Amino acid sequence: MLYTSLLSAAVFAASALAAPTPSQLPADGFPNPSADQLTDINKAADGTLSTAPPPPSLNASSIPIFQLINFNENFEVAFFNSLIYNITNDVSGFQVPFLAEKTALINVLTTVLAQEELHAINAANVISHFGGTVPTPCTYKFPTSDLISALNLAETFTALVLGTLQDASQGLSTNGDHGPVRAVASVIGQEGEQNGFFRSLLNAKPSEKPFLTTSIAPFAFSALQDFIVSCPFDIPSTIPIPIFPTISVQGGSVVSAEDQTLTFTADLTGVAAASPYYGNPSACTNDLSFTYFTGQDAPISKPISNVSWSGDVITFSAEFPFTEYVMDGLSIGSLTTSSNFSNPDAVASATLAAPALIQVVDPIL
Ligand SMILES: *[C@@H]1O[C@H](CO)[C@@H](O)[C@H](O)[C@H]1NC(C)=O
Ligand SMILES: *[C@@H]1O[C@H](CO)[C@@H](O)[C@H](O)[C@H]1NC(C)=O
Ligand SMILES: *[C@@H]1O[C@H](CO)[C@@H](O)[C@H](O)[C@H]1NC(C)=O
Ligand SMILES: *[C@@H]1O[C@H](CO)[C@@H](O)[C@H](O)[C@H]1NC(C)=O
Repeated sequence: MLYTSLLSAAVFAASALAAPTPSQLPADGFPNPSADQLTDINKAADGTLSTAPPPPSLNASSIPIFQLINFNENFEVAFFNSLIYNITNDVSGFQVPFLAEKTALINVLTTVLAQEELHAINAANVISHFGGTVPTPCTYKFPTSDLISALNLAETFTALVLGTLQDASQGLSTNGDHGPVRAVASVIGQEGEQNGFFRSLLNAKPSEKPFLTTSIAPFAFSALQDFIVSCPFDIPSTIPIPIFPTISVQGGSVVSAEDQTLTFTADLTGVAAASPYYGNPSACTNDLSFTYFTGQDAPISKPISNVSWSGDVITFSAEFPFTEYVMDGLSIGSLTTSSNFSNPDAVASATLAAPALIQVVDPIL
């Protein structure tokens, strides 16, 4: 089973190779391939960039939806390009000891890479057709230095994207733009297929939950900032989506399948709405909540406790109600100034920090 040998790959110790630093983008013309280069990307992706005409019009409110999709896909292209490079070149931590499995994994990831390139190009084409600013690829940093961690990260950001594309379709519908919804829905299924593959490699059941955990655009946009070294454009003035400080989970994102109290940390430096709370634990416990998205449940808010401040960095604890809501898979947490939200859209305007990405794995074996 591929899973077993990937685990053995992770413990397969070898000295680091003196590898040249790879370019972050594939050498196939992305993000602006020529017609011949696009033909090659289509072949690698097992299908073409849509040949359907663009919708006749697009609400200006929908431009940031496609900017976020493009911004995210550009990151994914760089990530999978780096991952393929590392596996291909036997970079320490990324060796797959059995040639057939190495070949199979590179084959799948090469197709995934080309598919992500087409997702990015599709979003860029919509933005430029309607006169918006296309966010060109940035320089990225990846926190992973072995294959299993990289697959875990791929699984987590893909799950976050699967939640965010729900928000994209909801937003397009709210903005009166039913035209692109079919294409976005096709990408939701496509990313779900990818994640089933990553999950299988990680000994998690391929189908995660009956209804995948939702997210909202500002949470995905905030999480992506943690991978950015620099961009060739000014992020806040180009993409008008709020950015929050992200929240880390003490002990790591993967937690056990049980009711428990989790402890979280966030750096609230520069968050205007946090000013009444700096250095004031009792105001925090009185007013603030930790709010979870899990599946399609209404947002779940829990009081926070055990608050401490170190400068503008807050550490606090909150209940993780695993049993009541069967919180397998991804749950997304936020530190909020209110509770009892009727729907996910209501959460962003009350958020001080987000997201916390929390994973519970229901193993295959
Ligand atoms: C590829 O390997 C390098 C060197 O270990 C590492 O810094 C980078 O994060 C790896 N890429 C991925 C996607 O994990
Ligand atoms: C454009 O989107 C905004 C925000 O959702 C909405 O209020 C407005 O009605 C939309 N315009 C049209 C023509 O549908
Ligand atoms: C209280 O917070 C500390 C970190 O500041 C954490 O180590 C501890 O587990 C928390 N205690 C409870 C009961 O949540
Ligand atoms: C939560 O909001 C609903 C209406 O949206 C209201 O009926 C209910 O009483 C509220 N619950 C609390 C605990 O405030």
